[in-house]
Amino acid sequence: MKRRLKASTRQAISSIFNRLDYAALGAIYCDEGGEAFWKDRREPCQKLGIKLAEILLGRLRPGGRSLYVGAGVAEIPVLAMETLELGREVAAFSLRAQEMALLNLACKALPFQFVANDARSADGPFDHLWTVSVLNDPERYPELSALSYGWANPVTFDPTAFERERSDVIALADGCLRKLTIPGLVSTSVEEIPWITDWCIRREISCVVEEEDYPTAIVEDPVCFIRVGETIKVSKG
Ligand SMILES: C[S@@+](CC[C@H](N)C(=O)[O-])C[C@H]1O[C@@H](n2cnc3c(N)ncnc32)[C@H](O)[C@@H]1O
Repeated sequence: MKRRLKASTRQAISSIFNRLDYAALGAIYCDEGGEAFWKDRREPCQKLGIKLAEILLGRLRPGGRSLYVGAGVAEIPVLAMETLELGREVAAFSLRAQEMALLNLACKALPFQFVANDARSADGPFDHLWTVSVLNDPERYPELSALSYGWANPVTFDPTAFERERSDVIALADGCLRKLTIPGLVSTSVEEIPWITDWCIRREISCVVEEEDYPTAIVEDPVCFIRVGETIKVSKG
């Protein structure tokens, strides 16, 4: 049965979204048209974030710990749910220092903080890793993301840059996944699945990619869940 967020958690999320400085965030998220972007995306971001939070509410255990790589506005509802409803500890990282400062201002009264640093610097372990639209980010990994999204142009594709980006992404995925307890849960975008499953296969750790995926409102990559290191029951006969 799907669980709903408490009215008080919804209220806390709504207050944070009301406090956000959309003009400043607009300049961070978009080269131009940032305010129009947030006018259009603010409501869906909050709504779809709450839906994801409600799905995760039934999957995470109270009192555990989550590591967020690339946390931003989209992650606010899930972070609020984890801390306010499940009493979990969250470590929310991104490399965008200006955005982290803005989000910390808006979330001042909440029991979590955003950290402007490499997520690999987090002290583990964690039973949940969240990496959404990070390992396929076109800004950071232009060649690799072109392949991931299926828009690579064979005429202009730069294989040398791709090799470098792939090594960086493998190192980032490894640096975060090695902090995950087994069994553990990974929330990720569909385009990032291969990096997670490859890490598991190389270490002979089981992984189950759940079939269903869920829409998001900022990058618009669908999110799915991967159960890592579950004991798989084999029935006889
Ligand atoms: C495309 S944005 C996605 C933001 C957000 N998850 C969303 O879906 O809207 C990618 C984010 O990953 C962050 N990032 C990239 N490498 C990182 C690292 N090593 N540690 C923490 N954050 C990282 C970037 O700073 C950026 O904020």
